[in-house]
Amino acid sequence: MTDTQWWRQAVGYQIYPQSFFDSNQDGIGDLPGIQAKVAYLQSLGVDFVWISSFYASGHVDSGYDVTNYRDVDPQFGTLADFDALIQALHAAGLKVVLDLALNHTSDQHPWFQAARRAKDDPHHDYYIWQPSDGQTPPNNWESVFGDSAWTANPATGEAYLHSFAVAQPDLNWENPAVQREMQAIIQWWADRGVDGFRLDGVTHLKKNADFADVADPRTDYARDFAGTAPYLAALKPVLTRNHLLVIGEAGGVDMATAKQWLDPEQGIFDLLLEFDHVHFWEANESKLPMTALRENLSKWQLALENHAWNALFIENHDLPRAVSYYGDGTAYPRRSAQALGMWYMLMKGTPFIYQGQELGLPNAHFHHIQDYRDLDSLNYYRRQLAAGTPETAVLGQLATKSRDNARTPMPWTPDQYGGFSTHQPWIGLTPGLATRNVQVERSDPHSVLTFYQQLIQLKKSVPALQLGRYELIDTHDNQLYVYRRSYNGDNWQVVVNMSSHLATTQEFDLTASELILTNLRVDADSDDQEIQPWEARLYHLRKLEQ
Ligand code: GLC
Ligand code: CA
Repeated sequence: MTDTQWWRQAVGYQIYPQSFFDSNQDGIGDLPGIQAKVAYLQSLGVDFVWISSFYASGHVDSGYDVTNYRDVDPQFGTLADFDALIQALHAAGLKVVLDLALNHTSDQHPWFQAARRAKDDPHHDYYIWQPSDGQTPPNNWESVFGDSAWTANPATGEAYLHSFAVAQPDLNWENPAVQREMQAIIQWWADRGVDGFRLDGVTHLKKNADFADVADPRTDYARDFAGTAPYLAALKPVLTRNHLLVIGEAGGVDMATAKQWLDPEQGIFDLLLEFDHVHFWEANESKLPMTALRENLSKWQLALENHAWNALFIENHDLPRAVSYYGDGTAYPRRSAQALGMWYMLMKGTPFIYQGQELGLPNAHFHHIQDYRDLDSLNYYRRQLAAGTPETAVLGQLATKSRDNARTPMPWTPDQYGGFSTHQPWIGLTPGLATRNVQVERSDPHSVLTFYQQLIQLKKSVPALQLGRYELIDTHDNQLYVYRRSYNGDNWQVVVNMSSHLATTQEFDLTASELILTNLRVDADSDDQEIQPWEARLYHLRKLEQ
């Protein structure tokens, strides 16, 4: 491992700035608010932060519709605030990763404003157009947020493509000028000291050049990953030259492509966020069965061994909360949050923690459509109602899968608004404030927060948990997830009951091993063959033969 691979030993923390901490009491989190919490980040033990999009924005898709890539949105502060923040984070030993939406801008971006005026405008070719009569969309392509991916632009007799919201026109990456703009933007932030980028939506960049109808209108028009390679190659020099950590959001990426993109020599990414363990984008919103979960996660663990490095995550700003999705937020809120933490974090790779995950925050439990802010959720509600689905059913679905579930303010104290602000926040808080907040959890040795601190500490101090080979251990008991990490003869084993029922460890002998960490209050005997619901154990298998 070289110095430039510092991220292989690191733990990342994702900040959703709207909801982290509000420094000026307007109800919206901001950059000085992050700065006010640097000591908290340090106490957690994380090494870098990934801050979700905070550039000047049209505020349609929570900051992912950018109007100016070289400025901070006023709701988050100023460039001077950013400079102060990065200085404070660096001084505390934390690296800083920015989020960059490459696939689209806001329709309010000056490029698009110019582009839509006339076909011969130099910016016209920054975007993707097809002739349009203003009535029928050019083809059957659909946006990720629903409905046609095309919106008419009468001024030029065309329609523009938007893989996401109507207000997010897709950039035309075939155009070298677009590539140069993005290179310059990356350099501009690198000059301000950033340490890396999370490149948003990279699997969407390349569109089918024939503009023909596709079988699956939601995804099939942007799945040409070979065709994406030249776009990524265009970014590689600026990323490499500045020694930036490069994380790709790569929903739908296949293994062969991922291996190329992650290749330490030829590739461009250090880490890819893939979603094989999350069923989020599927119409069927139920979680994956354990067999599929084991298979999907192990597939990535094994495929990248000795080749590249995994990113480990179970939450982000686009997903429901893990304790509600994978865990049991009703009967075992604390224990299942802890179990999930051990389960994913001790696999091989760089773990990401999404703000509030370390407190075991569950879904938001919103009951009214007025509680929601996310455009995707509001669109979904409107479409479902129009299709005749009863409102209670739609609200039930949103309560399970809306992105707002993970976007509520971070609870710092049991006070009003969780100490996030003294002003009513832009979105409601998750219930359970009295017990689930930083102040209370910090002083409780059995809290989710304390458990996360222990996990981070272990992950960073035990070489086998960082560098060791991953091996899935077969269990007949389907609810168990058991894996081993081995490094130079040092073996560790993670046993997690991923269910709300009792399980057994009869199949493997753990008598010769030492129990290092458990989420049960009563210390279990290491030969205790009953595994309680959502119990998680970390064993050091000292005496195991190699
Ligand atoms: C990424 C972001 C998501 C956003 C989308 C469109 O998936 O994570 O929040 O809505 O890109 O920009
Ligand atoms: Ca604020």
